[in-house]
Amino acid sequence: MAVSLHNSTGISGVGFDSKFLGSHSASKASVSVSFHSSLTNLSLKSVETSKQQSYRITAMSKTESSSDQVKLDISLSPRVNSVKPSKTVAITDHATALAQAGVPVIRLAAGEPDFDTPAIIAEAGINAIREGYTRYTPNAGTLELRTAICHKLKEENGISYSYDQIVVSNGAKQSILQAVLAVCSPGDEVIIPAPYWVSYPEMARLADATPIFFSTLICDNFLLDPEVLESKISEKSRLLVLCSPSNPTGSVYPKKLLEKIAEIVAKHPRLLVLSDEIYEHIIYAPATHTSFASLPGMWERTLTVNGFSKAFAMTGWRLGYIAGPKHFVAACNKIQSQSTSGASSIAQKAGVAALGLGYAGGEAISTMVKAFRERRDFLVKSFGELEGVKISEPQGAFYLFIDFSSYYGIEAEGFGKIKNSESLCRYFLDKAQVALVPGDAFGDDSCIRISYAASLTTLQAAFERIKKALISLRPAVPV
Ligand SMILES: Cc1ncc(COP(=O)(O)O)c(C=O)c1O
Repeated sequence: MAVSLHNSTGISGVGFDSKFLGSHSASKASVSVSFHSSLTNLSLKSVETSKQQSYRITAMSKTESSSDQVKLDISLSPRVNSVKPSKTVAITDHATALAQAGVPVIRLAAGEPDFDTPAIIAEAGINAIREGYTRYTPNAGTLELRTAICHKLKEENGISYSYDQIVVSNGAKQSILQAVLAVCSPGDEVIIPAPYWVSYPEMARLADATPIFFSTLICDNFLLDPEVLESKISEKSRLLVLCSPSNPTGSVYPKKLLEKIAEIVAKHPRLLVLSDEIYEHIIYAPATHTSFASLPGMWERTLTVNGFSKAFAMTGWRLGYIAGPKHFVAACNKIQSQSTSGASSIAQKAGVAALGLGYAGGEAISTMVKAFRERRDFLVKSFGELEGVKISEPQGAFYLFIDFSSYYGIEAEGFGKIKNSESLCRYFLDKAQVALVPGDAFGDDSCIRISYAASLTTLQAAFERIKKALISLRPAVPV
């Protein structure tokens, strides 16, 4: 049975994929799709609403006459309409599509280590399957894993939690979303220093809260100015989000600065802190990591998030956790119990093995960190020698957030004007075939994020391509 879908703007936003049986083809003018249903004829009509275009499906039973059509409203909720899709995912998908079409794109957009999960961790997962450890676990995570997490937080971070103050989730992303949903009421404000990880503002919006941004500067290594922070706090402020080491800047908050932040936070009884510490182990000495909850008076109001994706190269295992006062963590647990339930039993066994590798992940992790450091040093030195480029040396994570704004305003031959971070990224993709992420996605349009989770040889090739593409532009502002 064929259905016609007429849409002048394409089919994005129409979630029918699970119902497709055969092929579907999309053009600007119309789309034809085949549905599995043998009972129902469906047709879709594009309907102009005041703000945006939506679709109306006309569904009719085979036995019904067209005059008895039942109209299904497939408009989406204001909540989902308020959320922006992830630009990192969009550019990664674009670069992957180019690579699949045979274009030799160097992909430096994704936020995942290029290393395999250490064998000992992978083995623990395999053994879990072999031994039939494949059933639901407690919603908050196995006692074994939560106990190991408590031990880790005590030994490495100097913070004491009991197992009922931990909730394990399908990745730190889920832990953060649940925390935001658990503590924010409509109209509350979530303070997010920019540049920020792309998901924080959207999670605040999902909770009907308002993200409040303020900028940090490259000349301050993207560390927040406590006075500016203070000026942003109001009685509506519910949550301050801190991320150290930071995605996208790689900056690491020194303990002294965190102490100043803690003094400010302590004055506000409604203000909680979400401390995202997922890059904790990817840190370059002499920088050291301080957990915000370990500072005097901060344990009661801090939700500490961490996970296995980055340090242990376990992005696909989907395992993260939150630690905090029982009252808040139990609320996160409740949300999880009615949405995804507990994390994978197999991943949790692997997580126990990861934490069993020793302090800060032991040698397996220090070997990866050494490689990241070598790559960082190469990129910082190389980009630092380029004209019209500003750079702050990252102290952690595996990203470089480079200011290329002196190239904005330039007319590139055969391409057009470089207007902003997005068009410069498109230019790099077109001319240099290197995929990067526009800083705009992270709340700072002057910069572009380069992920150095790739081999040194790949990074060297990428740098040469970017350099060539930049040389063919003339810096608008001499540096
Ligand atoms: C700063 C930050 N927090 C949290 C996450 C989520 O990690 P996961 O859900 O893979 O544990 C990421 C992933 O990119 C991140 O960069």
